[in-house]
Amino acid sequence: MSIENRSNIAGETVPSPAEPARDCALCPRLVAYRHENQALFPDWFNGPAPSFGDARARLLVVGLAPGRKGANRTGRPFTGDYAGALLYETLIKFGFATGRFEARPDDSLTLLGCAVTNAVRCAPPGNKPETSEEIACRPFLTQRIEAFPELSAIVTLGDVARRSVLKALGLKASDGIPGHGSEFQAGRYRVFNSYHCSRLNTNTGRLTTPMFEDLFARVRAYVDAAGVPDR
Ligand code: URA
Repeated sequence: MSIENRSNIAGETVPSPAEPARDCALCPRLVAYRHENQALFPDWFNGPAPSFGDARARLLVVGLAPGRKGANRTGRPFTGDYAGALLYETLIKFGFATGRFEARPDDSLTLLGCAVTNAVRCAPPGNKPETSEEIACRPFLTQRIEAFPELSAIVTLGDVARRSVLKALGLKASDGIPGHGSEFQAGRYRVFNSYHCSRLNTNTGRLTTPMFEDLFARVRAYVDAAGVPDR
């Protein structure tokens, strides 16, 4: 089986409409950036970073887009750059992951009833996707959400993720409350919104570990109380 279309969601058959092709060509600017990185760093992953986690996810965490030296290098969301440390340590703390996060895709980290993906799957220059790229990538997010039969909660990291999730569900960005700690219903899912766990936000104190953990404590309680949805 080719690795080209493989999602690293455990147990998922491939190819999946929830995951872009390894050589997805939908966004010319991101393809050009990918080619630049391929020429400079041929050993890097350099492609749409597949979603990561448990096919029976009850929680989906949605980030912005792969960091150039993070998921774009390693091929796993939030792996290899700073943002993953707080995210995965917190997922372990609240029982959504087990093992050890060592910032490489072959570490022992395993997600439990949880998956992690990005609103935009390819690394954008300067970590800033364009609106057209969010739109082009959105069908994958819609399919990703719909592919989890047991999903009840979504954590959005940052405002691009919040807006993308709402639009992926056919809602308006204004249907969900912005800001860290907000919580709202979006269709059949409870959405918990967090500031992005980027180095900038944590170094400046905009997002602290207690703020992040408080949110995940609420998510844990919600997911446990929701049980497995009857669909
Ligand atoms: N790495 C990701 O995969 N996504 C982000 O949003 C940031 C870093």
